[in-house]
Amino acid sequence: MSVEVNGLHFSYGRIKALDGIDIKLPRGAIGLLGPNGAGKSTLLRILLGFLIPQQGTGRVLGYNIKNQQQSIRRYVGYMPEDDCLIPGIDAVSFTSYMGELSGMPRQEAMKRAHEVLYYVGLEESRYRRLETYSSGMRQRLKLAQAIVHDPKLIFLDEPTSGLDPQGRTEILELIMDISSKKNIQVLISSHILSDIEAACAYVVILNKGKLAAEGKVSDLKEIEYSLYELRVHDEAPDFFQKLKDIDCRVEEMEDRLVKVYMPPRVSPQRIFEIAAQDGVQIRHFVKSQTSLEDLFAKVVGVD
Ligand SMILES: Nc1ncnc2c1ncn2[C@@H]1O[C@H](COP(=O)(O)OP(=O)(O)OP(=O)(O)O)[C@@H](O)[C@H]1O
Ligand SMILES: [Mg+2]
Repeated sequence: MSVEVNGLHFSYGRIKALDGIDIKLPRGAIGLLGPNGAGKSTLLRILLGFLIPQQGTGRVLGYNIKNQQQSIRRYVGYMPEDDCLIPGIDAVSFTSYMGELSGMPRQEAMKRAHEVLYYVGLEESRYRRLETYSSGMRQRLKLAQAIVHDPKLIFLDEPTSGLDPQGRTEILELIMDISSKKNIQVLISSHILSDIEAACAYVVILNKGKLAAEGKVSDLKEIEYSLYELRVHDEAPDFFQKLKDIDCRVEEMEDRLVKVYMPPRVSPQRIFEIAAQDGVQIRHFVKSQTSLEDLFAKVVGVD
């Protein structure tokens, strides 16, 4: 088990970023998918011990996220979403410095810095100052510093962000190579389904701080969600909330038209039962089928 968390809650002041997350991740390449603001980066920062959750527990490679952060930093690499580069120095100095911060002796860090810069294709530019780097080079350098200390697991937060299609493919290929040939487990966050599909066999989908779905990509894509379109007579916020409580996804369209995505284990009869309990009148009710891919698109806003 590479990562396990139970009952994680995290708020930035009054903003709730994670609202009760339970996950157990198997070995291998894992995708962490979710739209903007879903809580992906917050989850990664908690797993690294940078943020302490208000509630809940977690382990990364068996180390406790609350009091074994030092071991986590030794064995886990991190490619942050934001620019973490230091202007005024070159890639070799930066990468070896990051290696030292993870606990490597200076000479070894320097040797490894040259190796990983070569590996990500930056050997020609390794003595250039970082502020002259293009977006694609910056992403490669961020990837290099994440693996300089030979971690067992790496967290990559939106590694394809800011890249053109070719740059995106190249960085994903590097990540797949790291995952398969270097025997490093990877956890990649993205809001783009195709990135995750290309590189990962297992996916966790977050939405609004909650777990929306989890499983093998192949299995999840097989699941047929039932889509019901209905029209309600009056405003019915409590009714919608009750549907969400039984894991339906509710999308309010205009003119009191509502789309309800139901997971397979919930019977459509429940919609009527809940409506009856709440005294909500349903005027129009149509069923259609949708695949999880469609649901991804709705939840995640795939481009
Ligand atoms: N430092 C902060 N202070 C206050 N609120 C924050 C802070 N960082 C994140 N949030 C809020 O927490 C929620 C989750 O944010 P988070 O950055 O974890 O999402 P994300 O899934 O990584 O999104 P994105 O795809 O945009 O990177 C959002 O509502 C965000 O506005
Ligand atoms: Mg983020």
